[in-house]
Amino acid sequence: MKTGLFAKKSVASLLQQAEDSTSQGLERSLNVFNLTALGIGTIIGAGIFVLTGQVAANYTGPAIALSFVIAAISCGFVGLCYAEFASIIPIAGSTYTYAYATLGEIFAWMIGWVLLLEYALMVATVAVGWSGYMTSFLKDIGITIPEYLLSANFNVPAMFIIALMTLFLAVGMRKSVGVNNLIVAVKLGVILLFIFVGIAYIKQENWLPFIPENTGEFGVFGLSGIWRGSGAIFFAYIGFDGITAAAQEAKNPEKDMPIALIASLVVSTILYISVALVLVGIVPYQQLNVPDPIAIGVDALGAGLSWLKFVVKIGAIAGLSSVILVTIMANSRIFYAIAYDGLLPPQFAQIHPEFKTPYLATIVSGMIAAILAGLFPINLLGELASFDALLAFFIISISVLILRRTQPDLVRPFKTPFVPFVPILGALTCGLQMLIFPVNTWLQLFAWLLIGLVIYFSYGQKNSLLNQGERLEVRG
Ligand code: ALA
Repeated sequence: MKTGLFAKKSVASLLQQAEDSTSQGLERSLNVFNLTALGIGTIIGAGIFVLTGQVAANYTGPAIALSFVIAAISCGFVGLCYAEFASIIPIAGSTYTYAYATLGEIFAWMIGWVLLLEYALMVATVAVGWSGYMTSFLKDIGITIPEYLLSANFNVPAMFIIALMTLFLAVGMRKSVGVNNLIVAVKLGVILLFIFVGIAYIKQENWLPFIPENTGEFGVFGLSGIWRGSGAIFFAYIGFDGITAAAQEAKNPEKDMPIALIASLVVSTILYISVALVLVGIVPYQQLNVPDPIAIGVDALGAGLSWLKFVVKIGAIAGLSSVILVTIMANSRIFYAIAYDGLLPPQFAQIHPEFKTPYLATIVSGMIAAILAGLFPINLLGELASFDALLAFFIISISVLILRRTQPDLVRPFKTPFVPFVPILGALTCGLQMLIFPVNTWLQLFAWLLIGLVIYFSYGQKNSLLNQGERLEVRG
């Protein structure tokens, strides 16, 4: 077996590993409906409920709908690439696992390391958004949360919701999937209600000019604003890859995973564009730079519809909760997969004998996200999360091409269409969107990668089971 930094797992051994851990108790309980709900549960969140208004007000005006289309196209390319991998290697760990089979151990570790941060940042971003809607809802019913519990240095409600969702996940997959399906339904219901009630109140003059003139500064309205807006709103789409992290708990991953990936992307894109058009149609975009833009949209419908504001806030709170739930799950499964391979301590790969969950990985994932949510403001968290996601998407697109070349005969139940064009376009669009981000964001990523390298050379390389040519006996 090839060992060393560039050691690759064989696809056959990955599939065997999936079988083994299934027999150790990770339950195969998710069908295509659950998987699509998981996808929608992760995708639709703070992006639409919080960031839409800010992007429209600062970068795009009504043309935010076009930014959503651009971001959706690049996610579509990447989604098709993910689907191929998810069908070949349907095991927990997502991009990390795919990189282990294509690029080799050191790349897999570094990608896994980036994903752990990305998911923690996502959870934190959404939790801070949750805190905003929750606080505003409580205020409506006469309960005021003291300011000192909400500051960017100590956001208590954000930490609370993460702790609660972590608990749900730690005690059992099936129960939390039931909760997830329910809140996804509430979230979709509220969004649809907003669209259908709002349509009647659209004032066409709010849509005009559709692309406000550029102010002279790059990225502030005009065509460059649409591009910058697509980078900023990218956050709204990230997370769809999280479904692949549940592949090992899927009943029929080869077939269901690609369907769920594409279906959840399509549904979210349609909803995003519709919400965006309705929102900028009922409120002049200049007024949308607020923490709860959808609620502001409902306000504009007039006093007779104030009940809808309550409903929207409850929907947002439920929706954001489901994003937090699914993202912590994805994070813990990546953690689990890395530990299973010996690149992190084996305790994180333990499955709870009764709850059948990787409970330690779940609890630690939740704790890290809670600390981030407690300490940092939403824009910083969201920006870093999107950037890390774009890097992972870039790599996954390239990896499809590499695997087609290096292992052309693999059984691919789902094939990315129009190779090499789709993967190249996926890599290109993600790469270009990364260029929009400021230098500090790049520096953050480099610092995190450096820490990752130190951990790999001081722990992972020595303990890697692939390098030792052994399989891990997970102590349950
Ligand atoms: N796409 C997710 C959201 O918008 C992360 O909240």
